[in-house]
Amino acid sequence: MTKEYKRTLITTALPYTNGPVHIGHLAGVYVPADIYARYLRLAGRPVTLIGGSDEHGVPITLKARKEGVTPQDIVDRYHALIKESFEGLGISFDIYSRTTSKIHHETASEFFRHLYDKGEFIEKSSEQLYDPEAGQFLADRYVTGECPHCHHPAAYGDQCEACGTSLNATDLINPRSVITGAVPELRATKHWYLPLDKWEPALREWILEGHKEWKTNVYGQCKSWLDMGLQPRAVSRDLSWGVPVPVEGAEGKVLYVWFDAPIGYISNTKELLPDSWQTWWKDPETRIINFIGKDNIVFHCIVFPAMLMAYGDNFQLPDNVPANEFLNLEGDKISTSRNWAVWLHEYLADFPGKQDVLRYVLTANAPETKDNDFTWRDFQARNNNELVAILGNFVNRVVVLTHKYYGGEVPAPGAFEQVDREAFAEMEALKTSLTENLETFHFREALKDAMAFARLGNKYLQDCEPWKVVKTDPERVKTILYVCAQICASIAVVMEPFMPFMSKRLAAILGGLKLEWPIIAGDSIIAAGTVLGQPELLFEKIDDAAIEAQTKRLEDIKKLNAAAAFKPEEVLPEIKIDDFAKLDLRVGTVLECEAVPKANKLLRFVIDDGTPGHRVIVSGIAQHYKPEDLIGKQVIFIANLAPAKIRGVVSQGMILSALNADGSLVVAGPTAPATPGAQVK
Ligand code: 2FM
Ligand code: ZN
Repeated sequence: MTKEYKRTLITTALPYTNGPVHIGHLAGVYVPADIYARYLRLAGRPVTLIGGSDEHGVPITLKARKEGVTPQDIVDRYHALIKESFEGLGISFDIYSRTTSKIHHETASEFFRHLYDKGEFIEKSSEQLYDPEAGQFLADRYVTGECPHCHHPAAYGDQCEACGTSLNATDLINPRSVITGAVPELRATKHWYLPLDKWEPALREWILEGHKEWKTNVYGQCKSWLDMGLQPRAVSRDLSWGVPVPVEGAEGKVLYVWFDAPIGYISNTKELLPDSWQTWWKDPETRIINFIGKDNIVFHCIVFPAMLMAYGDNFQLPDNVPANEFLNLEGDKISTSRNWAVWLHEYLADFPGKQDVLRYVLTANAPETKDNDFTWRDFQARNNNELVAILGNFVNRVVVLTHKYYGGEVPAPGAFEQVDREAFAEMEALKTSLTENLETFHFREALKDAMAFARLGNKYLQDCEPWKVVKTDPERVKTILYVCAQICASIAVVMEPFMPFMSKRLAAILGGLKLEWPIIAGDSIIAAGTVLGQPELLFEKIDDAAIEAQTKRLEDIKKLNAAAAFKPEEVLPEIKIDDFAKLDLRVGTVLECEAVPKANKLLRFVIDDGTPGHRVIVSGIAQHYKPEDLIGKQVIFIANLAPAKIRGVVSQGMILSALNADGSLVVAGPTAPATPGAQVK
């Protein structure tokens, strides 16, 4: 039997403030956490939703270094942007604070000091990677190299993002400084280590015995780490940006960002609830849920729990860590550094008033059990075919008909018939399934259940056809529209966690409906006599132009990235002038150009080469040019290449072209008109 808790503390991974938040963050962490928090609030269950910015760590200092500004400039800029865009999307944080706050520095310092005083750390000097050119130690993201586990060529000093393994910088094969590219040397330095091995038996019991109900991806990752055996982990760094290590002899050292960041959950609770924060962290009747992405599992399930166990004082461990997999964008991994993302603040600017559409699409397609893909076409289709055509359409028809027949007043029903009772029974079943799915963090399925209310509504209307019945049995229509009003009201309630903006508007249309859970199907959720507001479209179609603007933006980014990553081919071995003299390069004018039948890459050219007979050349560039676009253009070709038969056509030479970084191709030609047949030297 599941334990009854008095309150739920929901934490959301604190995003690094080295860039804005994107749809990957939203789908993985913030939208599901917000759905869950809103659901609990609707149900009247005490809940606190904690968020905040992670403002320490190498991602921030690297970004500052790149831009030539201070880390404080970077965190101020992105904290403000992230906070504002979360608000814009309706993420209902009870607090969204930051780890540069005074209260966080104090809390994190005190936490470290408490463990230090209890003798929970191992203090040891060891050889660490040092960049002699930059004059600093290299830890975490300051160093990359080959992963010792999966051999991914660009693992970081703290983690390999390809296989998820958490690493020490000295584990990397062929490490390189991210700052200067230098090969690091080893230098001795003192640090404090948390002996995770000491906590291994307790962690094993807590997770492997006590939390078999966790998602298989989370449980599986924990089990494999525990089975590999835990090692002591350094919790300090030789850096200047962070929370200073609060002990004697630790000048120039700060807490490791993964030591201070999760303490941020505690600091932010303290900031929000200075008098009662301890109840939310130390009372066994509080349930803590950490929403995170899969790359954060080890820190939330192993490292932070070990810190809390070491601290003691009744700190509660998370009851569940429903980590999601990753969301890709148009088939490619989302990346802040490659600008391959849909940025939340840009979405909000490009699609004003459409916050719910994004929330809906990200939930319908959430990477709950495997990585998933966001595409703009799917976004458009879900909006147009589901939100507009199913949900918006049903509500609109009901409101319009109620105005048409009853001046907008929800009619009092007569006796219910079989079809009405079936509709109520189905709503009841949907509500049960929806509640179960929400309770167990299956938000994709939960959204399907919520959407099924609208599907049910459309079917009910279609089956009952009030617009026909009104002519023969107007009394019956009252019952039909009463049932429809109940379905609309249910939609307003069940959709609130997923699409709060729409629910609010719908509740207003439904005469100021109070949104609360549970809805009791069959009962009067909205009373007869309630006067409905005017019909308004809850969703509108998104046209092709809006989608094409987004896909064009992504194509442009892809081209820029390819150009930035382009490395020219190695130059071939040197040749003598005599070697070059053997090549007879000429200018020619394209007289004819056509596709070679049954060969999708080949074009057949007739070239004016200055001779009366002209010459035929076959070239494999059909995927880059339309034949008609080349007619009249001048090209450079090799005139003395031995003829070759290609698909039955004898080709007398080769047209020269250049392959661009983005995979496109351009034919080489003179920069001004040249005489056909002129030699190129
Ligand atoms: O992966 C990240 O973006 C981290 N900033 C998450 C930190 S979660 C928590 F511990 F603060
Ligand atoms: Zn790896």
